[in-house]
Amino acid sequence: MIESTLSELESRAAASIDAAATPDSLETARVEFLGRKGALASIGKDMGKLPPEQRAVVGKMLNAVKQSLESQFDSKKAAFDKAALDSRLAAEWLDVTRPAPGVRPGSLHPLTLIQRELEDYFTSLGFAVVDGPEVETEWHNFDALNIPATHPARDAQDTFWVEGGHVLRTHTSPVQVRAMEKFGAPLRIIAPGRVFRNEEVDASHEHTFYQLEGMMIDRDVSIAHMLYFMKGLLEAIFSREVTVRLRPGFFPFVEPGFELDIQCLICGGPGCPVCKQSGWVELLPCGLVHPNVLRAGGIDPDQWNGFAFGLGLTRLVMMRYAIDDIRHLASGDLRFLRQF
Ligand code: DAH
Repeated sequence: MIESTLSELESRAAASIDAAATPDSLETARVEFLGRKGALASIGKDMGKLPPEQRAVVGKMLNAVKQSLESQFDSKKAAFDKAALDSRLAAEWLDVTRPAPGVRPGSLHPLTLIQRELEDYFTSLGFAVVDGPEVETEWHNFDALNIPATHPARDAQDTFWVEGGHVLRTHTSPVQVRAMEKFGAPLRIIAPGRVFRNEEVDASHEHTFYQLEGMMIDRDVSIAHMLYFMKGLLEAIFSREVTVRLRPGFFPFVEPGFELDIQCLICGGPGCPVCKQSGWVELLPCGLVHPNVLRAGGIDPDQWNGFAFGLGLTRLVMMRYAIDDIRHLASGDLRFLRQF
């Protein structure tokens, strides 16, 4: 009877395996018949009660049934695995003939854009674009610009001192002196570049920022000449009316000196973090070159005079593009940079 139970079990198991429509129902059938607590296992346990001769016969039969069911299970499982793989491959089909996405074109940094526009504007007026070192001598950065060691104006431009008495230049003005030394008078130059200050960083201050210095030396240069160039510069950049105001301003390297402010283009006047709630942004300090500076550059102040200005390039960029935090500029964040 145990033999007939076994063969009846075999056909039931074979039918279950055959009928399994999903991997899950196949596994359920496996557990039911072939599992550790399954039907075959419990017959195996009962075998101990059989007389030895019968035990050998039933044992053989049990093994044969087990092997046959296992192989049926394995081939059905393999069929399910293959079907799963086939459908996955079909879904993940890749068109290798599609064109590759390619390299995304870059864009120019807003500082570069505006620097180039200003270079175009000034070269069209006969100015040369010149350059100077970022690690500067104390003499070029301060003394030659009429700022002796004891002068309080040095405190306003706290900087980073480098071994050997050099400084990271605090402004682009030392390029004025280098240009005078190199080219003499008459002279028309601009000098865009990076400058450094020991600043507490916030929405409108960075330790590293950009300026554009300008200088014109000729005979009988007046404030009217200076204003002509300053206005032209602002019109070229904003291509719209900007409200400006001129106030006296002190810089040791000019006399008289001025602050040319523009009305804040971010808030339009009422006040915001960029204009420090004042409605105005200092953008264009300028003046007539101090005779001591001409002398330091090897130019005779009795023969020549000129004007100079130090445009805050970083501020100008922020104004034109309505950028409300200076830290965006050096963030390297492509979401910011791709807008230009
Ligand atoms: N170098 C000055 C600064 O960084 C700006 C400046 C003022 C430059 C007046 C000039 C000038 O050429 O005439 O604060």
